[in-house]
Amino acid sequence: MTSQTQPSQAQTVTSTAPDESSALNRQMLAILDFGSQYSELIARRIRETEVYSEVLSYRTSAEQLRQLNPKGIILSGGPSSVYDKGAPVCDPEIWNLGIPVLGVCYGMQVMVQQLGGQVERADRGEYGKAALLIDQSADLLADVTHASTMWMSHGDSVTQLPEGFSVLAHTENTPQAAIAHPQKRFYGVQFHPEVVHSTEGSALIRNFVYSICNCQPTWTTAAFVEEAIREVRAKVGNQRVLLALSGGVDSSTLAFLLHRAIGDQLTCMFIDQGFMRKREPERLIEIFKNQFHISVEYINARERFLAKIQGITDPEEKRKIIGHEFIRVFEEESARLGPFDYLAQGTLYPDVIESADTNVDPQTGERVAVKIKSHHNVGGLPKDLRFKLIEPLRKLFKDEVRRVGIAVELPDEIVRRHPFPGPGLAIRILGEVTPERLHILREADYIIRQEIRRSDSYHDFWQAFGVLLPVRSVGVMGDQRTYAYPIVLRLVSSEDGMTADWSRAPYELLESISNRVVNEVEGVNRVVYDITSKPPGTIEWE
Ligand code: XMP
Repeated sequence: MTSQTQPSQAQTVTSTAPDESSALNRQMLAILDFGSQYSELIARRIRETEVYSEVLSYRTSAEQLRQLNPKGIILSGGPSSVYDKGAPVCDPEIWNLGIPVLGVCYGMQVMVQQLGGQVERADRGEYGKAALLIDQSADLLADVTHASTMWMSHGDSVTQLPEGFSVLAHTENTPQAAIAHPQKRFYGVQFHPEVVHSTEGSALIRNFVYSICNCQPTWTTAAFVEEAIREVRAKVGNQRVLLALSGGVDSSTLAFLLHRAIGDQLTCMFIDQGFMRKREPERLIEIFKNQFHISVEYINARERFLAKIQGITDPEEKRKIIGHEFIRVFEEESARLGPFDYLAQGTLYPDVIESADTNVDPQTGERVAVKIKSHHNVGGLPKDLRFKLIEPLRKLFKDEVRRVGIAVELPDEIVRRHPFPGPGLAIRILGEVTPERLHILREADYIIRQEIRRSDSYHDFWQAFGVLLPVRSVGVMGDQRTYAYPIVLRLVSSEDGMTADWSRAPYELLESISNRVVNEVEGVNRVVYDITSKPPGTIEWE
């Protein structure tokens, strides 16, 4: 999904009748996941070509696929060997659907094996970059430069092609690096076109999507927004919707989108548990209520959260108590403000992907069934809520949510805001959370943010914050000995929060933060810099 929309496409979607709600999905590609760490990446790469794609379990049957009617099927890579006992394979009927298929790495090997070819352990596996030497530059490899770099990661190789297949390209170590049966529109690549190291992988994916599957570019931000609004209106009618607003990009985008769709039928509930950053609750209300006239119920629950975690020092217990209390407050307040018919949740696509679980059942040697990844959205609302759910963002990746946010005119300060954990400052004060410690950390954190804004480096970091340690050290200020808390400065860079590195921030920035925090925040006499990457550290300290 891209933000540039050709007016003609938006019009197509606008003029679609309400019951044809799958206008965007009709042009979809299905990815059968064999357990590759890159399956989601394939989905994102396809979506970047403006065509919708979904990751499905490799167990999806041909009949289910026939009903989904994808324009193409991609078989992902995976950690297995096709000749292993219980190795995952797809429904062989898939080869009779008449739908184009692209097998990637393990996916190509499944294709070869099921269609009568041979896969064997290679004399020499191939890992890392390899030059793709093109033998036939037709369809799949059109516009892919001879000897361009592709990313390889395989120990097995195709040794005999099934009938009707020919070689499109090879590498030094892999004679069959790209293969095709053009009449049946079956293609296989031994490398991973979806990873960034494959410099022209996107061209290959585009060729598959457009030249081979004959897709149209229908997955655009504007088209998504139009359709989401239409769907919400059709579903909700004149009923009322409740949304738990956290101030993060997901719930805020959802609020703006829903407000466009149903105006005042939407009520946002913002629960202030007392662990937000300085001035953030006020700023949120200012933006939503005053600037954009979105109905927000501000719930001041500071006292009760603080009382609940008094004396608690264990990080998991803290999180659990805060989570439970959130649900309690939410239930009470929704009953008071209600009744509501729907609850809107900012569930995203990675939360709902049904992907291959590559664990092997020790008894049967079979791979165990589809797993649905757990998620901790909206601070974890209870499962037995009496509301009907609407989850308009459930098809989107995070970067797509940001684009939707921009399209519905969510202010940049929210669209590009750093992630902030649900339990907030409570998990950045190690040990017991007290009003005094909250005050100290809030002030220190505010200075850290001010200095980062002042040095114009906010977007250089994935996150930037302070952590208060519940120990004291000796210092000297003026002629006075001090005995006060240290603040840990945590500045990290990351792509997705799964891994992270500590930022090599300029000394001037570190110096100004340290000077100001120690001079201006009473109760702090030392600032230390966390130089731990993730792994082995985590981004947050609790
Ligand atoms: P860690 O500390 O596990 O954090 O490296 C990874 C990312 O997740 C954020 N985080 C949370 N986000 N609720 C959230 O919404 C939480 O309870 C939570 N805990 C950690 C963290 O800030 C980082 O971006």
